[in-house]
Amino acid sequence: MADIVKGEAGLSRAVELLAAGEAVALPTETVYGLAADATDGEAVAKIFEAKGRPRFNPLIVHVADMKMAADIAIFDSLSRKLAAAFWPGPLTIVLPLRIGHKIHPLVSAGLDTVGLRMPDGLAHEVIARLDRPLAAPSANSSGRISATSAAAVAADLGPKIPLILDGGPTPVGVESTIVKIEDGMVRLLRPGGVSAEDIEAVVNTPLLRGPSEKIEAPGMLASHYAPAAAVRLGATALMPGEALLAFGSFAISGSPLATRNLSPSGDLREAAANLFSHLAELDASGASTIAVTPIPKHGLGEAINDRLARAAAPRDNPATAK
Ligand code: TXA
Ligand code: MG
Repeated sequence: MADIVKGEAGLSRAVELLAAGEAVALPTETVYGLAADATDGEAVAKIFEAKGRPRFNPLIVHVADMKMAADIAIFDSLSRKLAAAFWPGPLTIVLPLRIGHKIHPLVSAGLDTVGLRMPDGLAHEVIARLDRPLAAPSANSSGRISATSAAAVAADLGPKIPLILDGGPTPVGVESTIVKIEDGMVRLLRPGGVSAEDIEAVVNTPLLRGPSEKIEAPGMLASHYAPAAAVRLGATALMPGEALLAFGSFAISGSPLATRNLSPSGDLREAAANLFSHLAELDASGASTIAVTPIPKHGLGEAINDRLARAAAPRDNPATAK
């Protein structure tokens, strides 16, 4: 059961646990977040595990200052203007990831963009002391409403996490507004704590609304997560020219062009942390097909299988959109 802690003692325990690769609940000005070191894949996998998320949605990355933000993403003049006006605060800006950034691919769900925000209050203090960016979705089980108090977090996720940093009720109470910069325009992806009018006043132009032609909500297209190579699931034997994505000690016949094992010991948390990088590496091998051995469907296995099913789905077929 999670300890609920407050004040300076709570703050330092939260930082300690985060530095040790744990997922910890903490207050932001919007809602409580379930946070982990955004550069540590296994720590981030613990977030998905605790929330019971059936799929790997990209997570918002929380930073303490513009230096940390600029190490992660590329800002243009518009996004810089928005950050100057609303950070720290309840605005998330989706930006292109910078080459050489340290964000783990599980956080961005393998996308080349990242949702960034600089929170206020205790969360800000934790990130500054940790000196590392934090990935944090709202601290609630998948499908439940966001928690705005430590007690609400405890009632939902208490048995699954080690610590809840209690900062009292969150002042904003709804999630951050999410915007994306598109060709010099700002698109509203999710309404939230900063009003559209306030954003329009800063950028001096009406917001674009609704989904763009580019894919915004990951998972909208079944084939969205696809590598260049075809993906073949549930493989029990290899065909010539295939690369192999294995799990555990599953034995398979044939000689792969390249091999990665998501977790030789069969640990689903480790497998989740390795999923995107292994897929990318096998894709880079030039194989026309990546064969994937069966992966258990329990726990994080559900999200891993969901992601792989999307990677294996027929390409460019709007009929498979969901
Ligand atoms: O106020 C908030 O935003 C809270 C606190 C904890 O910061 N966090 C939060 O996170 O609401 P979450 O995971 O519940 O919602 C994040 C949303 C998801 O809908 C996700 O799809 C979207 O942000 N998102 C994240 N990265 C994205 C990206 N690169 N492109 C498009 N959407 C993205
Ligand atoms: Mg949420």
